Amino acid sequence: MEASHIARERIEPENRVRDIRSDENKVTIEWGDGHQSEFHTVWLRDNCSCEDCGDHSGGHRFFELNMLPERLANETTAEEGFIKICWEEDGHITLFDSAWLRNHCYSDQERNHRRQKPILWDASFINHLPSVTYASALQSDSQLLRVYDAVRTYGICLLKEVPKTPEATEEIASLLSFVRETHYGRVFEIISTPNPEVIANAPVPLRPHTDENFREPPPGIMIFHSIKASEDGGGKSVMTDGFKLAEDFKQQYPDEYALLASVPIPHRRFIEKVGLRAEAPVIGLDYFGNICEFRLNERTMGPIDLPHALIEPVYRALAKIFSLSYDSQYHLSYLLKDGEALVFDNARVLHARTGFNGNRHVRLTHVGSDEFYSRWRRLRYKLHGDINLI
Ligand SMILES: [Fe+2]
Repeated sequence: MEASHIARERIEPENRVRDIRSDENKVTIEWGDGHQSEFHTVWLRDNCSCEDCGDHSGGHRFFELNMLPERLANETTAEEGFIKICWEEDGHITLFDSAWLRNHCYSDQERNHRRQKPILWDASFINHLPSVTYASALQSDSQLLRVYDAVRTYGICLLKEVPKTPEATEEIASLLSFVRETHYGRVFEIISTPNPEVIANAPVPLRPHTDENFREPPPGIMIFHSIKASEDGGGKSVMTDGFKLAEDFKQQYPDEYALLASVPIPHRRFIEKVGLRAEAPVIGLDYFGNICEFRLNERTMGPIDLPHALIEPVYRALAKIFSLSYDSQYHLSYLLKDGEALVFDNARVLHARTGFNGNRHVRLTHVGSDEFYSRWRRLRYKLHGDINLI
C-alpha cells in the first residue's frame, strides 16, 4: 500500500500528531501546535488515494461514493509522518501523509488561514506597484513566481524592459499562459494618433472598466504592452482595484451592495459577424461571501432585463458604484514607458486611461486565467512545496 499523498521529508510541529482517536463517524487529531482537527470518516474514506481507490489529483477514482459501506468503523493510528486507517468493514487500509491531512483540515480556523486573501489597494499603491524585469522572469522561476504572486495577491504586476517587437508580446503571453484568441485576433494594436480615421484609435480618455463583459468568461489576464508612449505625457494607465471598490461600496451602501452582488447585468457586443452576450452581477461572491469577481463597464451594458420593481433600485445602485469608481482616491495612475507591460487580472482590476495629444502605441493581448493560475500553483509547489493549493 502506497502512502496516499506526498511524503514530507521534515515533519513540522503543526504536522506532528500529538494525540489521535476515532469512532465510526470521525477521527480527531490533536497536532503538535495544539490545533485540533476533526475529520468525518466519510471524508477520509473518500480521500483515500491508494492504488485501488485511485489518485484523485490525476483524475483517477476507482472507489465510488455509492460503494461506501454502511458503517465506517475503523482502527486509526499515527505513525512517523503518516496516519493509518484500517477500515473494519472490508479490511481496506488508507494511509495519509500527516502534512497533507493538516493542510486539508476543514475547521473554520484552518480554512480561513489557508484562504488566499487579496491585499486591497488604492491610489497610494503607486509607490508599491510590484515590478519584475522581463529578462529575470524569463530566466528565473523565482522571479517568474513574483509575477504570478503579485497578480494573485494584488491583481497587477509591471514587467520592465520588455523588447518592443510583436514577437515579444506573444512571448510574454506564452510565458504566463495561453493566448485567448478572440474576433480581434491574438494581439490587438491600439495605435492612437491626434486625428485618427477610426474612433477606436482616438486619443480620448476612458472611464474605469473591466473588459469585454459580454464574453463568458470575460478575458482573464490582460497584458498591456507599451510600444510607444504619447509625446505629451498623456495616455496614462489608470488602474483601480475592483475588490477595494466593492469593499468600500459595501460599507457605504450595504443595500445597494447586496443588490449588485445578486442581480445579473447584461453586456453585449453586436457588430458585423459578432453576436456576443453575457450577464452577471457587478460583484461576484463566493459561497462564503468573499468578493471573487468584479464586472463593470458602462459602454457595453445592455438593456437591463429584471422585474419591474427592481429597475429603479438597480439604476440607483449602478449610478452609485459608477460614481465611486470615478473617485481618484482609487486610481493608480501610471504612464507606461516604452517597453513596459502591465499584467493584470481583468476579473478584479479596472483599467482606464487619461486623454492625450500625441502618438501612442500599446499592444493588448489576453491570456486565460485557468492556465495562468495553473502555472502559478505548479510554481508554488515546485519552489515552496505548497500542497494546500492542490
Ligand atoms: Fe478596455
